Amino acid sequence: MPHSDERHYSPGLEGVLAGETAIALVDGAHGRLLYRGYPIVELVRGGTYAQVAELLWTGEWPEQAWLPCGQLPEEVITALRALPANTHPMDALRTAVSVWGAANRPGWPPTVEHARELTAFAPSALAAFARLRQGLDPIEADAELDLVPGFLHQLSGEAPDAAAARALDAYFVTAAEHGFNASTFTARVITSTRSDIASAVAGAIGALKGPLHGGAPSEVVNQLHEIGSPEQAERWARATIERGDRIMGFGHRVYRAYDPRAAALREVAEGMAGMADWLQLAVAVEDVVLRVLADMKPERVIKTNVDYYAPAVLQGAGLPAADLYPATFALARHAGWTAHILEQAGDNRLIRPDVRYVGPAERSLPVFAART
Ligand code: CMC
Repeated sequence: MPHSDERHYSPGLEGVLAGETAIALVDGAHGRLLYRGYPIVELVRGGTYAQVAELLWTGEWPEQAWLPCGQLPEEVITALRALPANTHPMDALRTAVSVWGAANRPGWPPTVEHARELTAFAPSALAAFARLRQGLDPIEADAELDLVPGFLHQLSGEAPDAAAARALDAYFVTAAEHGFNASTFTARVITSTRSDIASAVAGAIGALKGPLHGGAPSEVVNQLHEIGSPEQAERWARATIERGDRIMGFGHRVYRAYDPRAAALREVAEGMAGMADWLQLAVAVEDVVLRVLADMKPERVIKTNVDYYAPAVLQGAGLPAADLYPATFALARHAGWTAHILEQAGDNRLIRPDVRYVGPAERSLPVFAART
C-alpha cells in the first residue's frame, strides 16, 4: 500500500500562509505595496533609501538618515581578486557576503547594527568586483557620500551625477522589500535555524539569482535588443509564447493588477535625461506584449512587473554593464532581507514544513545470487 496523505498541497506554496510580518503589505489584487503602512509611491517621492532601510529595520520613519558605504575587509578584496574575470556578479556578491561573515563572525542573534553594516558593505563589494574584473583597483568608500551616490562613486571613481544618484536611489527604494518572495523566505528559513545574518543573506542572494526572481532585468535588456522595433514586437511575443518561453518583465505570483513598483519606476525613467529612445521602445513593446498575453494566456492575468522598467533606470544611472543589474537589485534588497532576518529572530521558531511522500511503498532490498 502506498503511504496515504490527503492533506492539501499547493505547488510552489501558492496561496499558503507561511508566516506573519509587520514589514510590508503586498496587496496583489489591488496593486498596492506598503512598507510599514506607507505606500511605495510616497516613499519613492519623499524618502531616501537610507530612511527606508531604517523604517524597515526599526519601524520608525526618521526625519533624516545617513548610510554611507562600508569599507572592505582585506580578506574580501583578496577573495574578489581570486575570482575568474568571467564570474557572474551575483556569484561575486554572494562570495563577498560569505567572506564578510567569516571575517566578522556576526553570530546570534542578529542586530540592527549587523543589518546596517552588511547593507553598507555590499555596494562596496560589488563596485570593487566590477572594477577588478576590468583590471582596475577598487576605490575606497567615501564617508561623505550616502549609500547610492557612494556606490556610483566606487564604480566609476568620479563624483556621482546628482540626478543619476537620485534616480538610482528611487530604484533602491522600490526594490528594498517585497514580502515573502523566494529570496526573503530563504533568508528566514536560514535564520530560523539560528544561523548568522551573513549565511542568511548569502542564501538569499543565491535564490535571487534565478531568472524567475531577480535575474530578469538583464534579460529584459536582451529582449528589447532582440525585438529591435515596435513593429517586430507582436511577431516576437507570439513566437516566444508559442515556444513555451516566458516574456521577462511580465507576470507575478502575487500581483493581478499592475505592479506599483513598475509604475513608480516608469515615472522615474521618464524624468531621466538620455533615456527617450529606449523608453519609447519599451513603452510601445509593453503595450503589444500585454495585448498578446491577454490574447494567448486568457486564463491568467499577466501584467508588467518591476523588472520591466528597472533596466531603464539602471542604464540611465550609468551602471557600466547589464550583468550588474541583478546584483544591484540584490544590493537594494539587503534592507528587506535583513529586516526579515531581524523579525524572524525576534520571534523565532524553526521553519520545517512537511512534504507528501510519493515514492515507492516500503519494500525489501532485492537479493542477488552470490558471485563466485
Ligand atoms: N510570459 C509568458 N507566460 C507567462 C508569464 C510570462 N512572463 N508569466 C506567467 N506566464 C504563464 C505561464 O506560462 C503559465 O501558463 P501555462 O501553465 O500555460 O504554462 C501561467 O502563466 C502561470 O505561470 P506560473 O509560472 O505558474 O505562475 P507563477 O506565479 O509561478 O509566475 C513568475 C510568476 C514571475 C515566475 C512568472 O510570471 C514569470 O516567469 N515571469 C517572467 C520572469 C520575470 O519577469 N520575473 C521577475 C518577477 S518580478 C521580481 C520579483 O518580485 O521577484
